[in-house]
Amino acid sequence: MKIAVLPGDGIGPEIISQAVKVLNALGESFEMETAPVGGAGYEAHGHPLPEGTLKLALEADAVLFGAVGDWKYDTLDRPLRPEQAILGLRKNLNLFANLRPAILYPELAGASTLKPEVVSGLDILIVRELTGDIYFGQPRGVRVCPDGPFMGSREGFDTMRYSEPEIRRIAHVAFQAAQKRGKRLTSVDKANVLETFQFWKDIVTEVAKEYPDVALDHMYVDNAAMQLVRAPKKFDVIVTGNMFGDILSDAAAMLTGSIGMLPSASLDANNKGLYEPSHGSAPDIAGKGIANPLATILSAAMMLRYSLNRAEQADRVEAAVKKVLAQGLRTSDIYEEGTTRVGTEEMGNAVVKALA
Ligand code: NAI
Ligand code: MG
Repeated sequence: MKIAVLPGDGIGPEIISQAVKVLNALGESFEMETAPVGGAGYEAHGHPLPEGTLKLALEADAVLFGAVGDWKYDTLDRPLRPEQAILGLRKNLNLFANLRPAILYPELAGASTLKPEVVSGLDILIVRELTGDIYFGQPRGVRVCPDGPFMGSREGFDTMRYSEPEIRRIAHVAFQAAQKRGKRLTSVDKANVLETFQFWKDIVTEVAKEYPDVALDHMYVDNAAMQLVRAPKKFDVIVTGNMFGDILSDAAAMLTGSIGMLPSASLDANNKGLYEPSHGSAPDIAGKGIANPLATILSAAMMLRYSLNRAEQADRVEAAVKKVLAQGLRTSDIYEEGTTRVGTEEMGNAVVKALA
């Protein structure tokens, strides 16, 4: 199994080295190769996604990505900015499924803005489609309105589209993810108003026949938003389109209150994927040794589960993270009185120790 390790810039290298340490402690013989990306790619080769880095990502079984986007690159032309590397990787690796778990460990229940009893123990997974929907549909633009009461004035317009293959492949990813978890899937749509999402609902219902062990239900997006803050623990896996998923996954992430804890995966049709923390390169704390490495370590656990077929090892890593939290160890972003404040390196070492 070959893993492409792309630390990036900002806190990227600091958090990635902790995740690599944890992977090395599992006693498996992974081949890991590191390459520069984002600001580090620009420094080394004048491009955020150097050719060699892309080649490595293409030939690897999985990509472990840190973070990119240090402020010092903000003045570069857009194609040279670090964030372009993520877009380039998504496109070249055909990553169409974004998996974002929102997990709230009971020890961190105080970090949420919601009441502890509503969110404590929360463990849901949002599967967001990444390539279609109104974000990319043509035609789009600004034109002179051709009809209706505002005919003749200017109007902005976009087009919502989803093709059957696009819906089918994201539905398969979501059903398979549900099979590996609580075996329940909620498909979120707006079928009462939008033709695109009536079609979405029909196709997901068809795909469900291939997964008799998963219980499927459908929910309108407005209700889903309401249920996410009212009783989020009622969900297991949620699958939805690009725009609804963008909004719902950010809302779900914030139920947990701690960006330093949230992993993510972006998958292709063969479960090859790119794994990265949900947060950015945190330039404000880069180089200080205080970044929380747990989101990256948990991303490595997702990689073990979804791309490397090592569910048991994934369980081990997740259990080790729970153990260090139970021991009261906290990086600054999740620190509360009565707990022990540790740095990035110490947190990584504690997870390695807890694996044993
Ligand atoms: P950010 O997620 O980097 O930071 C937001 C806040 O959370 C900061 O105060 C930061 O110190 C804190 N934070 C983030 N990760 C943390 C961790 N592991 N431990 C402790 N504290 C942590 O988001 P921001 O500030 O909006 O963006 C900074 C740069 O990152 C920008 O250039 C942005 O474009 C880029 N970015 C990159 C992403 C990626 O690499 N996939 C995703 C999001 C943003
Ligand atoms: Mg967003």
